[in-house]
Amino acid sequence: MNVFSTISGIRQYRWADHAAMWGLVPTMGYLHEGHLSLVRYAHQENDRVGVSIFVNPIQFNNPNDLTNYPRDLDRDLSILEQAGVDLVWTPSPDVVYPPNYQTFVEVEKVSKVLEGASRPSHFRGVTTVVAKLFNVFQPHRAYFGQKDAQQVVVIKQMIHDLNFNLELITCPTIRETDGLAMSSRNVRLSANARQQATCLYRALTAAKCAFDSGHKKAAELRATMLAIITQANLARIDYISVAHPETLAELEIIENQALLSLAVFIDDVRLIDNMIIGEPCS
Ligand code: PAF
Repeated sequence: MNVFSTISGIRQYRWADHAAMWGLVPTMGYLHEGHLSLVRYAHQENDRVGVSIFVNPIQFNNPNDLTNYPRDLDRDLSILEQAGVDLVWTPSPDVVYPPNYQTFVEVEKVSKVLEGASRPSHFRGVTTVVAKLFNVFQPHRAYFGQKDAQQVVVIKQMIHDLNFNLELITCPTIRETDGLAMSSRNVRLSANARQQATCLYRALTAAKCAFDSGHKKAAELRATMLAIITQANLARIDYISVAHPETLAELEIIENQALLSLAVFIDDVRLIDNMIIGEPCS
């Protein structure tokens, strides 16, 4: 496995074999089974797999969240080595954002709601760094988890608008056995908070059941989710949403598909999760 912190190192290795198809898995490190599933998908569809590990400071709107974000580069590199990854980029912030850095990428409408409303400038940071990752690696395919559903919508829009020549592959959310979506932030949950954190998945599942048994009004599904989350005494709701899966506009009636999504603080750890319900319109 080849590990570089410089851009020139990545470019040289990336272009050494011109004919190879490259898959890229962008990460912020502290890898878990969710990241490894992306690496496995990337291996299935490409000749070579690259991974980036970079805790991107400009996508954190809360300085404490950035400071507390878990990091363990040695562990991450040994996990990636075992997973057969070819190339890893571990830049420092000044390699990605050198002095006098001035250029940012901002997707408009779909980045302003949900996560974007709660975390202003978050997606500006995400799209800026992901555009840079695409330029540095020039992958044929890039792999993202459905757990960050809005991130996928925003990056797809950026790829379309800026004519990036690659395919975005969305991979399923990987869950613990009790349903909690895997996230690097889960290690920050106390034992009690960890138990209560299952309320997100339980709320989504209950709303999906209600939908499957004929409840098509979005307000009813929001109320179903709210009732379950409020039973957890450590939970503080940021948002509960039933939205169109592409425009992210809040729905009144679910005609075809809807994206159920939640952001909830359990103690001081902010967790997100989502589920798509219904059938795509044919
Ligand atoms: O999903 C993440 O881990 C990050 O937002 C990403 C895509 C690596 C950009 O920093």
